[in-house]
Amino acid sequence: MSQRKVHNLKAYRPPHFLVEQVTLTFELDPSATRVEALTHFKRHPDAPTDAPLQLHGEELQPELLEIVGQQERPHYHIENDRLTLTPPAESFTLRCVTRIAPDKNSALDGLYISGGMFCTQCEAEGFRKITYYPDRPDVMAKFRVTLIAEAQQYPILLSNGDKVATADLGDGRHSATYEDPYPKPSYLFALVAGDLALLEDHYTTAEGRKVTLQLYSEHHSIDQCGHAMQALKKAMQWEESRYGLSYDLNTYMIVAVGNFNMGAMENKGLNIFNTKYVLAAPHVATDAEYEAVEGVIAHEYFHNWTGNRITCRDWFQLSLKEGLTVYRDQSFSADIVSGSVQRIQDVRLLRNHQFPEDAGPTAHPVQPESYIEINNFYTSTIYNKGAEVIRMLETLLGWPIFRQGMDLYVARHDGQAATVEQFICCMEDASGRDLGQFRLWYVQAGTPELTFNSLYYPESQRYVLNVTQVCPPTPGQLSKAPMHIPIRMALLDPDGQPQSLKLVDGEQVLGAETVLELTTGEATYTFEGVSKAPTPSLMRGFSAPVKWDAALDREALAFLWANDNDPFNRWESGQILAVETILDMVGLTQQNGELPDLPESFAHAFETIIKDGKSEPALLALSLSLPTTGYIMDRMDKADPHLVYRVRQHVRQAVASRFRPLFLSLYGRHYSDEPYHYSPANAGARALKNLALDYLLENPEPTVLALAHKQFHQADNITDWLGAYGPLLRCGSPSSSELTHILYTRCKDSANALDKWFSTQVTMVAGPEALSLAKALTQHPDFSWSTPNKVRAVVGSFSGANPTAFHAIDGSGYGFLQEVIAQLDEKNPQLAARLCTYFTRWRRMVPELSQPMQNALQRLLDTPNLSNDTYEIVSKSLA
Ligand code: ARG
Ligand code: ZN
Repeated sequence: MSQRKVHNLKAYRPPHFLVEQVTLTFELDPSATRVEALTHFKRHPDAPTDAPLQLHGEELQPELLEIVGQQERPHYHIENDRLTLTPPAESFTLRCVTRIAPDKNSALDGLYISGGMFCTQCEAEGFRKITYYPDRPDVMAKFRVTLIAEAQQYPILLSNGDKVATADLGDGRHSATYEDPYPKPSYLFALVAGDLALLEDHYTTAEGRKVTLQLYSEHHSIDQCGHAMQALKKAMQWEESRYGLSYDLNTYMIVAVGNFNMGAMENKGLNIFNTKYVLAAPHVATDAEYEAVEGVIAHEYFHNWTGNRITCRDWFQLSLKEGLTVYRDQSFSADIVSGSVQRIQDVRLLRNHQFPEDAGPTAHPVQPESYIEINNFYTSTIYNKGAEVIRMLETLLGWPIFRQGMDLYVARHDGQAATVEQFICCMEDASGRDLGQFRLWYVQAGTPELTFNSLYYPESQRYVLNVTQVCPPTPGQLSKAPMHIPIRMALLDPDGQPQSLKLVDGEQVLGAETVLELTTGEATYTFEGVSKAPTPSLMRGFSAPVKWDAALDREALAFLWANDNDPFNRWESGQILAVETILDMVGLTQQNGELPDLPESFAHAFETIIKDGKSEPALLALSLSLPTTGYIMDRMDKADPHLVYRVRQHVRQAVASRFRPLFLSLYGRHYSDEPYHYSPANAGARALKNLALDYLLENPEPTVLALAHKQFHQADNITDWLGAYGPLLRCGSPSSSELTHILYTRCKDSANALDKWFSTQVTMVAGPEALSLAKALTQHPDFSWSTPNKVRAVVGSFSGANPTAFHAIDGSGYGFLQEVIAQLDEKNPQLAARLCTYFTRWRRMVPELSQPMQNALQRLLDTPNLSNDTYEIVSKSLA
């Protein structure tokens, strides 16, 4: 087996040389771009005087390497992607010329071409594919960049900072020079050159700076950029009012590119975005995507402070910027859309992605201690669990103190490459609290599990709540210490109202809701003056990223589902009730070989919710959605996706037929003939209406089919087209192929609309047919292996959203994914490695599936010349 280099946090050493200034000149040419770098180095004050200069460089050959002002050529050697040079002095300027081929760069890392335009992605380590440089985030330099290109083909030339010069070079080429006054690490460098259309607007900051906002995209999609522009202005305003932080350059540029590995990138002053998170129009983006655009625009904008002005010392600190920035974009979305809906969506994402990761072979702490390929660590743990950890700090300290901690962080570390430890120190200094135990959240992997037990004593009016915590072992971490866990809770009286809380021996009345701080393996809290037997409402608002068992019976869960005044917990109680009901039914099916009837208790509780007239529609839609097959499977020791899917469908059919009139009336009430307009309220109504239709089509009789067809044919927006088309496809409606054709003609002019045309098909067609369909779609003229969005739409949706097809008992679904990964790995390792995550749960599957899954992984491991990216995920999965 191959030996791969492992990077360890413990091995961190400061750089021997810092860079004061770098001047880059690009002569852009698709197959032979010339890059000249003039880098002014200065020895780090603490570095030994004989320390060599070490530069990163991958897939590069220097055409010229010289010390400016020196006759003789410097001594250097190149080995394993490193150039080592004997420095001539304490401080000197190196001139380095390299030539690179952006048109051959299919990994989309470094300088590449997307849709005829040049663009870059340098995080985490793409800059080293452009020139020799200390490509590490703790080396921060001022950049001056000149771009030279054919004027006709590339009229727009962009880089970070302010444009300081332009020139017509007389030979058909032109140039533009940019200067970024803020020192930055190389991963924040960006350039773009192409024939792009521009949408421009302005924003005046609280400090009075007039900022020009520029959104660039291909000409045919520039009219789809208005929503993103509005989102940007909202984000700029929100950050000023919530954090007192303003934008710091005269121009803020966003460019939408079609071929992009991730969501977006926060390059200083020049964000580069996957078109999926910029473009929005009724026939192109769903309501959920309109929301995602706002969230990602805000996320990248917020990085300007948490990421750019204060960056990371090394990649083990990645969550310092990502967790914090996700927390901030979640708060933004909560404010502009809906706090409760946002919270539920955040938790769903965490549970569907991060919990499985934390319970699997690639589990790692929020601050990892080692990696082979850093690109594999842009994970749900770093991002989403990282955000939860920040949120717990806000919960423990309270917003005003948390905000003071943030102010201190900015004051102390502006312009620096910082660490998680320094961030926590700011929170400690602002609050005067000891966060020693809290730090465990950064270094211990795994999802802690809480078990609650309670007893009510009517005579003494006391309520005793006992809780224990354990954290399961994860790779390399067999035993864990107890964590510092905030438990937000209330005790509800029979009307669902929180009773005021007072702890025995506690001095003060705590109010109706309190945050208990669990710091030990076990703790008991005794409340006094509890006049009526309460129903506990625990972990309100999902106060910690943990699993818990509240030990509530079905009756209590149904009560909370209908009555808890914490919206998250209302939703959560319904989910627990559904999971428990479905797991019971799974057990009965295994015993008796046939599907049992839907328990009355669940049907009654469901009926109460569907009749609920108070909740906002978006919340009601979430409340009436059953937990995903994946989430239910995670609750089983050995998961059988086919059985879970069957039982879940059975429950859906049962409630659909039993509550048909109620679903019909929900549909009617939220149906609208108005032209499409995105707003949170309209989106909520559409979500509820489409949820009702989705249930109704579980029993596709003529009236319901007619409703769905009417919606499909009359709607003016893709949310409603898909709301009808998806379930029609699932129920095998005879009109399917005609609808597929019609939808294609509506989508064909937009790559992003087409992505949904692809993904809906492979998701909704069940059984063996789905595999042949997925394979056929990869041959479709609109499909391309070079566009990650397309690969995700077909292969990702097939593997992640069609459990019965992917987990086909003959292993054919696994075989398909394995072959795709093996082929893609040469072309785009980051994308290939991402796709491997669908295999990582293999040990938790029933034996007849875990065996073929393991075999597929083994075949991958045996693939010659596997990238570090794929190798790391595959080898860890099999270990
Ligand atoms: N910093 C970017 C963001 O969170 C993600 C870039 C990740 N790219 C990568 N190739 N690993 O918005
Ligand atoms: Zn980010």
